[in-house]
Amino acid sequence: MHKVVIGQNLKIGEILKAHTKGLVKRGFLITNKTVAKLHLGSLKKQFKGFELKIAILPDGERYKNFFQVQNLYKTALKSGITRKCFAVAFGGGVIGDISGFFASTYMRGIKFFQIPTTLLAMVDASIGGKTAVNMKEGKNLIGTFYMPEAVLIDVDFLKTLPEREFKNGLAEVIKYGAMNKMFFESLKKNLKQILKKDEKTLVNTIKFCVNIKTEIVKKDFREKGLRQILNFGHTIGHAIESARNYRTKHGFAVALGMIYEVLLSVYLGKCPQKIAEDFISVLNQAGFRMKELDLASLFKGISYDKKVVDINPVFVLMNEIGKLKPEEISWEVLKKWARLQRK
Ligand SMILES: NC(=O)c1ccc[n+]([C@@H]2O[C@H](COP(=O)([O-])OP(=O)(O)OC[C@H]3O[C@@H](n4cnc5c(N)ncnc54)[C@H](O)[C@@H]3O)[C@@H](O)[C@H]2O)c1
Repeated sequence: MHKVVIGQNLKIGEILKAHTKGLVKRGFLITNKTVAKLHLGSLKKQFKGFELKIAILPDGERYKNFFQVQNLYKTALKSGITRKCFAVAFGGGVIGDISGFFASTYMRGIKFFQIPTTLLAMVDASIGGKTAVNMKEGKNLIGTFYMPEAVLIDVDFLKTLPEREFKNGLAEVIKYGAMNKMFFESLKKNLKQILKKDEKTLVNTIKFCVNIKTEIVKKDFREKGLRQILNFGHTIGHAIESARNYRTKHGFAVALGMIYEVLLSVYLGKCPQKIAEDFISVLNQAGFRMKELDLASLFKGISYDKKVVDINPVFVLMNEIGKLKPEEISWEVLKKWARLQRK
């Protein structure tokens, strides 16, 4: 598993030095225009003693594609990046995913580091070694499993993160609350401080999330079983994203997806109403509200979901806080539930 360092004002250069022993001190840093403008100047100062080659991509999910990967290969080749060099992803999940894919395929794999700059990337995308690029046919359809050497998480970067992006990551933070009772209780206690972006609380919260994800990934790196619980809220969440043509941000879609998937768990008799209410009330306090969904048409989207095995879709259901379980649910049952939701 990769090493994760979490804190404030990290000495990133020092940490990288310790992890690049035996390598050529030439790094290939991949970022985007937005992050470069805000933070590249100060980050570069930390790379004393390294030769740094930099690739700046346009900003946006739509650039997480093969065309950009090819540009990265060409720039890296021109810049003398060899297998003895290393790559650094500096940005949100989009940069993390495309850089990871680049690093895993360039010269059959070079070492790479993640420096995530969004809350979502800090608690989720940078952890666990999944890389991806999008196709016209769908998101994240091409990718590899490739662990970074280390993930360096500095909450200082969050100071410039727009509120909407912060909330986007917060939904994933709350998702971890569904997986761990102790974290759920701490979340309830600290939510106000998190919303105020108190740095100490953020460091502790991110540490908790990273530990939860790391433990899951350690047990099931290639998502054969247990790792699927990280998809809680995602079956409906992905369907919302695709139905809205990706105008709804992932975290907001997953938050709504979690509300509906908890309600589905109650409907199926798998989760007591009180537990569902408790969980949903934390989402509400974080600003994620219940919205009416046209479930019947969403289910059409679900049938194109990657997680669909055979015919029936898989939902991660909640039994209680800390106990999630992926289960296949028949279309018949889903349709009945959808009809009830409309009443
Ligand atoms: N590999 C995984 O396990 C995994 C898990 C979850 C999500 N993902 C992927 O992550 C991506 C979403 O990541 P995201 O939410 O970080 O989106 P993102 O990378 O698009 O970043 C969101 C926006 O914030 C900007 N930004 C980044 N850091 C900033 C900062 N410090 N200050 C100001 N602006 C900043 C970015 O330029 C961008 O405009 C998706 O492509 C998703 O598929 C991957």
